[in-house]
Amino acid sequence: MNMLDIMKIGPAVPVVQIDEIVQAAPLAKALAKGGLKVVELTLRTECALDGVKAMQDAAPDLVVGMGTIRTPADVDRSLEAGAAFIVSPGCYPALLAAMKSSGAPALPGVATAGEAMAASAAGFSELKFFPAEAAGGVAFLKSLAAPLPDLTFCPTGGVKRETAGAYLALSNVACVGGGWIAPKALMSAGDWGAIEAHAWAAAKITPDISV
Ligand code: 3PG
Repeated sequence: MNMLDIMKIGPAVPVVQIDEIVQAAPLAKALAKGGLKVVELTLRTECALDGVKAMQDAAPDLVVGMGTIRTPADVDRSLEAGAAFIVSPGCYPALLAAMKSSGAPALPGVATAGEAMAASAAGFSELKFFPAEAAGGVAFLKSLAAPLPDLTFCPTGGVKRETAGAYLALSNVACVGGGWIAPKALMSAGDWGAIEAHAWAAAKITPDISV
């Protein structure tokens, strides 16, 4: 699967953080039972690298990618850990080059037209728009569709279930990402049932064409 195939699997990609490795399996199972098939596990904790395999083993049909990729070394260690794709919150030339040369499906992060153009020139057609709400939201992405029609985005950062549909209605959006599906409080409480319910609701989000 290439990056666009992965983005088109479902409308929403949960952006998750595991603080302890024991959270990986129940989280993966809750997301999969809720009907989600793609997850971005953030490289923000010590156990995140081991978490890729733990989530994959617990829910074999889940496509587990690694997010918060900040350096070329992060690219290497994430792919060695088994990540199916890699996501960065922003980009700079050396990181774009490392993501590209890895050959893995990759979603570099951009927040401006110039960054989107730089990522496009580096060979990327699929991009994470981050932080989506703070950087201009739906109106910003809509404005990019005419000058940069070949680019497809996954807006993430401040996107919620209630606002996801407006992004999904845009011609240049394939899916949205968000932390709301498995928030820290539910993770710490081990409330896998509530996370499954959030996943269930997220998997059902449809484009909001009224916006
Ligand atoms: C990310 O890394 O993409 C964000 O932390 C997710 O943002 P959110 O928690 O505001 O959805």
